[in-house]
Amino acid sequence: MSDSSSSRRRFLQQTAALGLLHGSRHSFAKSFVQMGDMHQTPRTTIPDAPGKTVPMLHVLELTPFVDPLPLPQTMGVAYPGKLRITMREIHAKIHRDVAPTLMWSYSPTPLAPIIEARSGHPLEIEWVNNLPTKHFLPIDHSLHGCGHDIPDVRTTTHVHGARVPSKADGYPTDWFVPGKSRTCVYPLQQDAATLWYHDHAMGLNRLNTYAGLFGLFLVRDEVEDSLHLPSGKYEIPLILYDREITADGQLFYPTSGDPEHPWVSEFEGDGIFINGKIRPHVEVEPRPYRFRILNTANSRFFNLSLDTQQPITQIGSDQGLLSTSADIPHLILAPAERGDVLIDFSKSSGKTLHLRNGGLDILQFRVSAQTTSPNSSASIPKNLRTIERIPESSAVTTRTITLDEYQDKVGNSMLMLLNHKRWHEPVTERPKLNTTEIWEFVNLTEDTHPLHLHLVRFQLLDRRRFDVFNYYTYNKVRYTSDALPPTPSESGWKDTIQCPPKAITRIIVRFEGYTGNYLYHCHVLEHEANDMMRPFEVIA
Ligand code: C2O
Ligand code: CU
Repeated sequence: MSDSSSSRRRFLQQTAALGLLHGSRHSFAKSFVQMGDMHQTPRTTIPDAPGKTVPMLHVLELTPFVDPLPLPQTMGVAYPGKLRITMREIHAKIHRDVAPTLMWSYSPTPLAPIIEARSGHPLEIEWVNNLPTKHFLPIDHSLHGCGHDIPDVRTTTHVHGARVPSKADGYPTDWFVPGKSRTCVYPLQQDAATLWYHDHAMGLNRLNTYAGLFGLFLVRDEVEDSLHLPSGKYEIPLILYDREITADGQLFYPTSGDPEHPWVSEFEGDGIFINGKIRPHVEVEPRPYRFRILNTANSRFFNLSLDTQQPITQIGSDQGLLSTSADIPHLILAPAERGDVLIDFSKSSGKTLHLRNGGLDILQFRVSAQTTSPNSSASIPKNLRTIERIPESSAVTTRTITLDEYQDKVGNSMLMLLNHKRWHEPVTERPKLNTTEIWEFVNLTEDTHPLHLHLVRFQLLDRRRFDVFNYYTYNKVRYTSDALPPTPSESGWKDTIQCPPKAITRIIVRFEGYTGNYLYHCHVLEHEANDMMRPFEVIA
């Protein structure tokens, strides 16, 4: 489980630099011990037969790199843009040696179409729910909005990172059932960026996303065009996630063992998937490539590097291009974060390279002897896009948001909240349209939480370690380190930010676009469901 322990995140660059190294994970230690044993020990509990033992597939023993990396179909946009995307149940091969796996998808394959749009050109999408009426993963009816009185299968699609009116945002309660659809218009008044779409149904999205409901959504613009980055077959999406697979090849999602409260506080599986396959390979030419990397995992952080020690050139993050490209040894992506990177294979003709997560090779690059097109590496500029730093002085207020962790009522798992409040409590954050605010996330837990705000993009100001004991005792912040400014990877526009433990992470955000109801939450989907999610309302 060396890969898993290294992916057990929490060793962020920033964390390390702050000296925030995360010794024991206290509350999570137990569940991680269980997860560590997952592929050797039969697990208990499946939805219809709690207590029954399920034999698991030893995923790490599958022969790696036997399947070619699947590439998604692109849904290009002919204007006026109108698309129709249907969710359905499918069976798909996740590995050469595994029987077909039942899953849900926005396409007939496990790989949802890439939606490709132009900045400033509105796009209309009809999201159609053609799923069965019975869920195949273990619903926890004790979670918010998940009662026995409402249908089991519900979906709503959120385009993560899109600046949209509230009614098109995929609000968690705007769900619809099989046989129904919902049409949303995305104005796309925003810069080129790697966005993505996923299910957001209240209390269910951890399961719906696990089942397979996610896809990429690329916005392009003239600034990006002018850079002449590798494109067409030289621009490859990499959608990363992890799953546990039963011996008969089916998706396994663990439960707590308590039939009234099956929720678990985190999920990490040994099966590392890229574009729907476990540890595939891809043929590349000896030239630079652009990779759009997205972490759609429920809880897992990816710590990516190349086995050749060659640096990865990062050119963009969640909300678009960085101001200048940055050569980084590792790319660490929390759930929902994106990395837009260049990898140059021009010195590797005829060789084999690997993309690693921690110590595990997860993707094999087979570099051909020759390129079929002229090498364009010389033309990749250092300066990518002008990004003005938002001055702190422009903020009208600073909101303090605590990240809290409780022993939950069952006593064997955790409950995580924001500002000690549950989702359904009245709105407390009401920013005014076209004003700028600083939000500081005071992390009182033992864990890194990726916090995401809908509607907006923001900039990271800094992170600073503080004395948690002092905070609890005197309700005062005593800093124990200097403020750490963003690394190059995080100095662009973000919509999801890693908040390391025992640190205060400050972001600055301008509330632009629309008034209405939105939300912010931890993107560890298990946390979000119970109950690390809060509404905010942008007011006129
Ligand atoms: Cu990626 Cu509220 O979502
Ligand atoms: Cu969290």
